[in-house]
Amino acid sequence: MASMRPGRSCPRHYRYSPAVFSRAADLKAQSLYIVGGLYGNPFALEAVLDLARRENATLVFNGDFNWFDVDPAEFERVNETVLDHGALRGNVETEIAGEDSGAGCGCAYPEWVGDAEVERSNEILRRLRGTASAYPELRERLAVLPMHLVAEVGGLRIGIVHGDAESLAGWQFSQETLREHPERARALLAGSGVDVFACTHTCLPVMQDFATPRGTALIVNNGAAGMPNFRDTHFGLATRIASTPSAQALYGVRLGAAVVEAVPVRYDYEAWMARFDRVWPAGSAAALSYRKRIASGPGYAVEQAVRTGAFSRAA
Ligand SMILES: [Fe+2]
Repeated sequence: MASMRPGRSCPRHYRYSPAVFSRAADLKAQSLYIVGGLYGNPFALEAVLDLARRENATLVFNGDFNWFDVDPAEFERVNETVLDHGALRGNVETEIAGEDSGAGCGCAYPEWVGDAEVERSNEILRRLRGTASAYPELRERLAVLPMHLVAEVGGLRIGIVHGDAESLAGWQFSQETLREHPERARALLAGSGVDVFACTHTCLPVMQDFATPRGTALIVNNGAAGMPNFRDTHFGLATRIASTPSAQALYGVRLGAAVVEAVPVRYDYEAWMARFDRVWPAGSAAALSYRKRIASGPGYAVEQAVRTGAFSRAA
């Protein structure tokens, strides 16, 4: 790597080969929720546990379940709860589990994200690292989490990642790159032997289908489970993959014998706003970067996220 700019770079140990997904499934489920970007929202965590409990579903938290949880008791509770389930480490967990590597937040932000926002992310990470330093056992448990899993649901092979098929913090599966350079994702799907990549990390959701030599394949990015993903909304999103559709799904597709859906994570919005404002008051790094989105969602619409023209909508 030519230069190491905190928050911009992708550390070498974040990388893996798309060939790692050509392996026997690590887990099989009838119904699977993939929960990326909880960002330390304890109310979203409650909502997700509730969703899974209702249908006895398997949960996989695919990273960045920490972010705003700099309060020690909250940090402990979020991690103890998440680590009872399947989990991957995101860049946030990787950075707080290890010593300061100079990668900042490890987000590997692309050029369309401004410098001030990157610096604020590095500042949030510094505070979270301070909180985590009091929990060496939790840090050890985070450090040994995998960077990817292979799941099987209804005959579908699913690669679960935080970023993309090559890096924990990769942006190839961001809605921006999927729109501008879909050929990259298509090549990664074709080379990995999975039917679906379920990812998060890049903050906005997208579900996009691809024709590959093996048949139709899908990238599903849940955006954030712990923050709103669409304009004027107050819910997070999780990815659900199951043999039967959910009545809750916002959008989804059928792929072979399974459905892949985006399910709202309807958490206690008022309680979360109050908690956020207490921990991250006006003027703080997180308030400047995220409060507007947490209060009323990003400038993004469901129609922009759904790119599955080859299918009919499941919901
Ligand atoms: Fe991330």
